[in-house]
Amino acid sequence: MDSIITNQIAPVGTSFLTDVLQGLQSKPKFLSSKYFYDEKGDRIFQQIMDMDEYYLTDAEMEIMEQQSSELARFIAVDNQPFDLIELGAGDATKSIHLLNALLKQQLTFTYFPIDISTHVINDLEENLPKKLPQLKMEGLNGDYFKMLKKAKEISSRRKVVLFMGANIGNMNLTDAEQFCCDLRNELSQNDLLIIGFDLKKNPKQILAAYNDSAGITRSFNLNLLDRINNELDGDFDVSKFDHYASYDPETGACKSYLISLQEQWVNVGDETIHFDANEFIYMEISQKYSLEDVDALAKKSGFNPIHRFFDHQEYFTDAVWKVD
Ligand code: AVI
Repeated sequence: MDSIITNQIAPVGTSFLTDVLQGLQSKPKFLSSKYFYDEKGDRIFQQIMDMDEYYLTDAEMEIMEQQSSELARFIAVDNQPFDLIELGAGDATKSIHLLNALLKQQLTFTYFPIDISTHVINDLEENLPKKLPQLKMEGLNGDYFKMLKKAKEISSRRKVVLFMGANIGNMNLTDAEQFCCDLRNELSQNDLLIIGFDLKKNPKQILAAYNDSAGITRSFNLNLLDRINNELDGDFDVSKFDHYASYDPETGACKSYLISLQEQWVNVGDETIHFDANEFIYMEISQKYSLEDVDALAKKSGFNPIHRFFDHQEYFTDAVWKVD
């Protein structure tokens, strides 16, 4: 399955308390979804990826299982050695198909999986060589951009960056553009970015993926309140909050909220937070894209979109962008 920690865009450090208080003292209130992934959050995310309603993982897996040889041909244009850098590599369940295809085509490359979690990188370094003994790899544990810079210091080969799993969707459009511009600025001519997007589709299908009948996504969101209780000396009564998901077909924004079911006061650290009845905490965005949106993002951030891979239902795309 997909990474569990893949989705942390930034590390959790002492800023957890500062970020939580800043969010809960804002109007409207918000919390950052990057904090969803504690041990229990990782487990719940695994369950989400196994849900019937959550089509994203299967769709991207299908692309990687069935089209990795073609993707490898796009990567290997000139047969020159290159570095394959995966942002948020997780357990590489999807990218292993691409690694396999690249090895089969006898290309010379080093795989640099980057993940914020030491545990994830250690696991990969232990397990991937067993599955792919010919693979040259060097795991990098830390912040995406710091580790990308490190990979550039280690090797001056052409870079191919993988950013899969629709993780770009957990940024709003402004942050996504900034992220892609920052990536572009780290890359050089002929480098590639392979980036996964969940596509706009029937609004009911999208909403169901984030509002599942078994309430798994609900637990995923509520778990952040539990985490605040455990790690930040909070006293949220999670039974007094409910999950609400919305999808706006016009903007493609799928958003999750927690709704306070009554007026209440909650302590976090040394602070007391007041909630009105029905007040919401904005928890997460999962932005959906049209193909025009995908190409526009490429161009706005200085990439040239050269190809798109789709699953057979065209739910998802892995886009190939080049630096000209
Ligand atoms: C990790 N990320 C792409 C998931 C998504 O679809 O936005 C996280 C998620 N949140 C609720 N369900 C899944």
